[in-house]
Amino acid sequence: MFALAPRSAPPLARTYSSARTHIPVIRSLGQLRRWRAEARSRGLEVGLIPTMGALHDGHLNLVRASVNRHPLTVMSLFVNPTQFAPHEDLGAYPRTFEGDMDKLRGLMRQGPAAVIHGLGISEYDRRLPRPNPGPPAGESPLVVFAPTVETMYPLRGELQNLSEHRGAKVHVQGWGDVMEGASRPQFFTGVATVCTKLFNAVEPDHAYFGQKDIQQALLLKILQTDLLSAHPLPENLHILPTTRDKDTGLALSSRNAYLSPAELGVAPVLQRALQAARSAFDNCASGATMLEVATRVVAQEQERLRVAGSEVVLKPDYFEVFDRNSFAPVRGTPGPGDKLVVSGAVWVGGTRLIDNLLLGWDAETLDVSNDV
Ligand code: PAJ
Repeated sequence: MFALAPRSAPPLARTYSSARTHIPVIRSLGQLRRWRAEARSRGLEVGLIPTMGALHDGHLNLVRASVNRHPLTVMSLFVNPTQFAPHEDLGAYPRTFEGDMDKLRGLMRQGPAAVIHGLGISEYDRRLPRPNPGPPAGESPLVVFAPTVETMYPLRGELQNLSEHRGAKVHVQGWGDVMEGASRPQFFTGVATVCTKLFNAVEPDHAYFGQKDIQQALLLKILQTDLLSAHPLPENLHILPTTRDKDTGLALSSRNAYLSPAELGVAPVLQRALQAARSAFDNCASGATMLEVATRVVAQEQERLRVAGSEVVLKPDYFEVFDRNSFAPVRGTPGPGDKLVVSGAVWVGGTRLIDNLLLGWDAETLDVSNDV
């Protein structure tokens, strides 16, 4: 692992080919700010991909998109304590730093060429991306920011039980307390707080999030809109489609690592339930019917497991059909121009899985250069 020397200029001077596999790791805020000031002084656009590590192909596709579009990309690796309630899995959350770095180096060795489909959510998303001049010769297009808890929460104190937390918190009332926020009451406060800190620290021109966590991505766009934030502008907060297991359709997730082989076999039922809801939408069904259809698919799978004597326990948490901007639930028949999401969460054994599909809007192709 390579760490930046304190107070030195970013040590990015390498030959171009080795720069693809040498990924600098920034640990402190001071180093990050010096690196960012230098990028700004050279007029280089910066993309940010916030993650909690335990990287899989879903994360790597976000890197591909950003590296293809911008000369410089920061991936943050930080398991954020404030988005885990005291009874949740903070301690058990997979921490695989060296493996993550290997995956990123592997990606940069291959070159991240790909056409990535992103979700347009405002007319601004339809603008053609600025041509990517690439990083200056010899520099890595990708930098990892892996801060400590003390860097991200300098006031320290209680970071899991947020009712006891002293210090700044960002809460998006009305958007952060429904669906995932109803099931996990402090989750979006933790997410909005840590993402605000990351946006303030990195000052990205663009940021990339996955459709997999659609409520999170939409809520962060709303946060940027409401706070008049420019790093990134709401229209530069991009939502890229969910990467799935190509055989089963299961959405890739760091939490899939908790599933036993038998549970892994059952988990794709969530995606099937959502697809059944989407077929109902295509046949002009009401929101209420879509929810019934999705719930029935899970109930039928529960029954199948019971009859087969399986020990896998399957429990739906919620399904919802909602408007992508207001998050208002939809129970009636959608109108022609409505842009909705059907989302759901199920427990498979002790693991809570989420997934969603889009209704009435589609992925947008970002034509990205293959030449990084
Ligand atoms: P994490 O779960 O590590 O996810 C990081 C980013 O990867 C998120 O934008 C998430 O939506 C995206 N992602 C995860 N699985 C994906 C998949 N199968 N396909 C496409 N994108 C996928 O989400 C978080 O971390 C945290 O809440 C964070 C935003 C970093 C704040 O702590």
